Amino acid sequence: MADLLRVEGLGKAFDGFRAVADAALVVPQGAIVAVIGPNGAGKTTLFNLITGLLPPDRGRVVFDGHEITGLPAHEICRRGVGRTFQIANIFPRLTVFENVQVAVLAQRRTSANLFRPAAGQAVEDTAAILERTGLLARAQAVAGTLSHGDQRILEIAIALGSRPRLLVLDEPTAGMSPEETAATMALVGRLAREGGLTILFCEHDMSVVFAVAQSIMVMRGGRTIAQGPPEAVRQNREVQEAYLGDAGA
Ligand SMILES: Nc1ncnc2c1ncn2[C@@H]1O[C@H](COP(=O)(O)OP(=O)(O)OP(=O)(O)O)[C@@H](O)[C@H]1O
Ligand SMILES: [Mg+2]
Repeated sequence: MADLLRVEGLGKAFDGFRAVADAALVVPQGAIVAVIGPNGAGKTTLFNLITGLLPPDRGRVVFDGHEITGLPAHEICRRGVGRTFQIANIFPRLTVFENVQVAVLAQRRTSANLFRPAAGQAVEDTAAILERTGLLARAQAVAGTLSHGDQRILEIAIALGSRPRLLVLDEPTAGMSPEETAATMALVGRLAREGGLTILFCEHDMSVVFAVAQSIMVMRGGRTIAQGPPEAVRQNREVQEAYLGDAGA
C-alpha cells in the first residue's frame, strides 16, 4: 500500500538541545501506526514538527506525495492532517455540538458550497461526526462538564471536523480508566476500518499499543531506533535494551 506520510532525517533543537535528533517514520495509507518511547524521547515534538506547530531544523515530511516540511499548521491541516494534543484542548463553556460545529465551519470557509447554506450543512456534518464518535446523546451537554474520557473523545471529534485523512493523536488514552481506554481505542479502530482514516498515535500503555498498532516506531533520545510490525519490534534487541526492558513490558 502507498505511504500516506513519510518522515526522513527530521531534527529540531531548542537552545542547542536536540529534542528530535534524527527521526524517521513511515505511515502506510489506512494503517494504525504507534510511536513509543520513554518520557522526553521526542514524541510530542515529532508530532509538532509533522503538523506544522514547529518548523523543523532539518529533514523532510512528505504527505500524500507532497513535501509539507515547514508549512504552517493551518495549511497542513487543510491538506488533510488532523490532530489532538497530549492535554485536552476543547472550548469548555460551549456545548459538545458547538465545539464540533466550530471545527466544521472553520473547514467550510475554504470550501464554500454554492448550493447549500454553510450553517445548515454544518449541522448535518456535525451530527454525523457526533454519531460516529458516540457523542450524539451528549450533544447539548456543556463540554467542560463531560468526564475526562469523553473530553478526549470530543477532541477527536473536533479533529474530524477538518475532514482529515491522517489523524495524529498524542496520548489519546492518557489519564483514562481501563474502560475509557478500551472504548477510545475501539473508536480509533473503527475510524480506521470504516472511515478510511489513517492513524498515527503515541502512547505509553504498551497493552494498548500492541493491541491496535499494525506498525510501531520506537524513539529514544530524539532518534528513531526501530520501526516495524509489533512482533518484530517486541523481539528487537536494541528496543528491548533501550525501552521495553526498563518499562517492564
Ligand atoms: N519548547 C521546548 N523548549 C525546550 N525544550 C523542549 C521543548 N519542547 C520539548 N522540549 C524537550 O525536548 C525533549 C522531548 O520532549 P517531548 O515533549 O517531545 O517528549 P515526549 O516523548 O513527548 O515525552 P512524554 O512521553 O513525557 O510526553 C524533552 O527533553 C523536553 O524537555
Ligand atoms: Mg509527549
